[in-house]
Amino acid sequence: MMMEFPQYRLLEGAETLYVIEGPRHAVEFQPLGLKQWMPHAHVATDYPRFVWLQELQNETGHARAISREGFLELLQTREVRGASSQLGRFVAEDVHRNLDVTADVALQERTTFGVPAATKRHALVHSDEEVREALLMSVEKNWEPLILGGGSNVLMHSDWPGLTIEMNIKGIEVLSDDGNHIEVVVGAGESWHAWVLHAVNEGWNGLENLALIPGSVGASPMQNIGAYGVELKDRFAWLEAIHRGTGELRRFDHATCEFGYRESIFKRSARDQWIIVRVAFALERNAPLHTDYGAIQSELKHLSSPDITHKDVAEAVMRIRRSKLPDPAVLGNAGSFFKNPILEAPAFRSVMSKTPEVVHYALEDGSYKLAAGWLIEQAGWKGYRRGDCGVHDRQALVLVNYGEATGQEIWQLALDIVADVQHKFGVELQPEVNQLGAH
Ligand code: FAD
Ligand code: EPU
Repeated sequence: MMMEFPQYRLLEGAETLYVIEGPRHAVEFQPLGLKQWMPHAHVATDYPRFVWLQELQNETGHARAISREGFLELLQTREVRGASSQLGRFVAEDVHRNLDVTADVALQERTTFGVPAATKRHALVHSDEEVREALLMSVEKNWEPLILGGGSNVLMHSDWPGLTIEMNIKGIEVLSDDGNHIEVVVGAGESWHAWVLHAVNEGWNGLENLALIPGSVGASPMQNIGAYGVELKDRFAWLEAIHRGTGELRRFDHATCEFGYRESIFKRSARDQWIIVRVAFALERNAPLHTDYGAIQSELKHLSSPDITHKDVAEAVMRIRRSKLPDPAVLGNAGSFFKNPILEAPAFRSVMSKTPEVVHYALEDGSYKLAAGWLIEQAGWKGYRRGDCGVHDRQALVLVNYGEATGQEIWQLALDIVADVQHKFGVELQPEVNQLGAH
């Protein structure tokens, strides 16, 4: 059930009033004689205070719910000591004491496309509590929140007028280990690639094919990241996320995440509702190797030893990726700009009737995935450059920023490619990259 705030309470027999401003924040107005109220801010930063606030909310103690009108009527019977301010100020001051918020921060270096854009306010969050503090602040100040991890799957079309919340919750903790199966929970602010390398080095296997994908652990479930025959969902156990409206912490199991190809519930029905704070993985010391992807096989042929290890696979994947994909530190990009289109059998047959050579893969459910890179290359766009934006010359699915391109210029190029591929092949491309600040 969605909790609505603020809520108002009156303590039976004591005249004390409360405004509950969020799941962890309340202001108490204690009577001081007959003329004054003494305000106290309560922030449930520890468990006992959290339980106390829950009791206040659920009316399980001596406080009972009253209406806003009833509350204001009682409040007006005395002056609030030290306050010319409106309700909420007390809480705001106390809660935000520790949150580091910086004004007017450039996002060019915080996003891998490197297009010019700035955020009005930026907060780096290190804990669940700081996430809640940032959310509360965004509600109070009416600053629209934007969650950022490594910024490697976003295109900024304009400045962000609200509050960017950069995820920096760290930590890697083994929850169970039976000698083969290991369950590990990882903070959303850990770097994805560093985590994969750490896991491979520990012998916690299963993620090696996903080495060198940029970004954070927290963003990995958003689009169910995938590469070289493995997707996040193959090794995902559960995640925990904080609700943007209520501050509630919820655990999502595998089924609830509704993972698909570059999809999850967080991009669909639960879009913009949750902030992922940690992700748990189910890994194995004896995980099967995934070496079917053609390029991996040819990379592994160079090895002298016939015994291929998980580390060998990680290294092969890294070599392939370095040879094909542009390094964002050198050339701005966000990986594949478009998804590979998936067509039902009739639509696929219609494309095949005109373009039988189209590169495609049959999927288990009877649909077909087309190689968008092939379509874009055949349409003549590979290596194309317009001003400072262009199509990468080794991977046509990747749009690049040669230096001074703007988000809108890159988006216009993307639209032109979509229209041309539609015109030439009758196939509609969908962007994979998240478009931010687009109108
Ligand atoms: P960001 O770009 O910061 O955010 C992406 C989206 O998720 C945004 O909408 C943001 O608001 C939201 N978000 C971020 N963190 C959270 C959170 N904690 N809670 C809730 N919402 C959040 N992807 C693949 O799948 N496979 C690849 O092989 C691959 N290769 C790439 C290669 C290159 C060179 C680049 C630049 C990108 C590549 N990507 C690939 C895309 C990208 O790396 C992934 O999508 C990655 O998971 C994005 O992580 P991030 O932390 O940078 O997310
Ligand atoms: N192709 C071309 N020309 C190109 C690019 C590709 O003809 O310029 C054709 C080739 O036939 C090639 C096929 O497309 O064999 C597939 O290309 P590739 O192996 O490079 O993979 P992709 O489908 O283009 C996908 C992911 C990548 C992921 C790789 C490896 C999507 C949208 N992209 O690319 O993910 O790293 O497979 O598994 O699914 C990302 O999501 O950002 C990303 C980089």
